Amino acid sequence: MNTLSINNLSLIYKNGFQAVKDISLDIGNGMFGLLGPNGAGKSSLMKTIVGLQKPTSGNIIFNGKDVSKDPDYIKQNLGFLPQDFGVYPKVSAYDLLEHIAVLKGIIDRTERKEQILSLLEKVNLSDFRKKEVHTFSGGMKQRFGVAQALLGNPKIIIVDEPTAGLDPEERNRFNSLLNDISQEVIVILSTHLVEDVRNLCSEMAVMNNGQILRQGKPAELISELEDRIWSKPIDKNELDHYLSSHEIISRQLIERELHITVFSEDQPKDFNAVSPLLEHVYFRTLTQKP
Ligand SMILES: Nc1ncnc2c1ncn2[C@@H]1O[C@H](COP(=O)(O)OP(=O)(O)O)[C@@H](O)[C@H]1O
Ligand SMILES: [Mg+2]
Repeated sequence: MNTLSINNLSLIYKNGFQAVKDISLDIGNGMFGLLGPNGAGKSSLMKTIVGLQKPTSGNIIFNGKDVSKDPDYIKQNLGFLPQDFGVYPKVSAYDLLEHIAVLKGIIDRTERKEQILSLLEKVNLSDFRKKEVHTFSGGMKQRFGVAQALLGNPKIIIVDEPTAGLDPEERNRFNSLLNDISQEVIVILSTHLVEDVRNLCSEMAVMNNGQILRQGKPAELISELEDRIWSKPIDKNELDHYLSSHEIISRQLIERELHITVFSEDQPKDFNAVSPLLEHVYFRTLTQKP
C-alpha cells in the first residue's frame, strides 16, 4: 500500500498570489479525484506534489518520507501527465519513450525495450510507434502521455486534466485505461468534469480558491443530499425571486424552459423531488456560503 499525506500545505507564488491554502489530504492506492473549476489551484497543488514547486509551508509525506524538502524519492516513483506538455520534439513515439526511459533511470537496454513495447501495446499505439508524436491526434497524445507516465512502474501517478480536449470515445478509452492501472498505485486525477470523478474515483475532494472545500467518497457525499434536492420549471422573470428565497444550486435550460434545482431540508411548495447526483454535491459545495 502506498500512502501520500499532505499536511497544511500552502503555496504562494513569487508575485504574492496564494494558489494553495493550508491543504491537508490523506491518499492511498486507487483513484482520487480532485475536482474544481478553472483557476481553483489544481495544477498548482499537483506541481507542488511532484516537486516542480517548493511549498511555502507545510509538508508532503510519501510512503513515510518527507518529499517536500527533497523530492527525489517521489520523482523516482512518479508518473506525471501534466496539463500542458508543451512542444514535442521531432522524434518518433518510440524514440521519445526511449529518451524518457533513460531519464527515469531504466538503464538496462533489454528491460527498456520490453517496457516500451508493452506500454505502446497497452495504450494502443503500437502501430504508430514510428510516427512523430506532434502529428498525433489529441487522444493519441494523451495515450502517449499515459505511456510515458507509466515507464518505470511508478507507485504514484498524477494526471492533470487528462480528458480535456478528447472526444467522448477517446475519453472513455482513456478513462478505462486509468481505471485498469489504478489498483496497486495511487492515481490522482484532476478535472473539472464531475462525470469522470463519478465514474472512476473511490475518493474525491472539491477544490476552489486554493482550498479543499469537501472530501470523501462520491457515493457518501451524494447520499448526504438524499431528500434535499428539488427542482422546478420557472418563468425567467421569477428567477430573482427564487434567488433571494431559495438556495439555488443550478439552473438549466431544458427544451427552452428554465429549470432551477435547489437544496432544502423540506420540500418547497410546487417543487419536485430529484435524486441527488455528484454534480449537485459539486455545485452546492461551490455555491455554499462558508
Ligand atoms: N506561476 C504562477 N504565478 C502566479 N500565479 C499563478 C501561477 N500559476 C498559476 N497561478 C494562479 O494560481 C491560480 C490557480 O491556478 P491553477 O493552479 O492553474 O488552477 P487550475 O489548475 O485549478 O485551473 C490561478 O489564479 C492562476 O492564475
Ligand atoms: Mg490546471
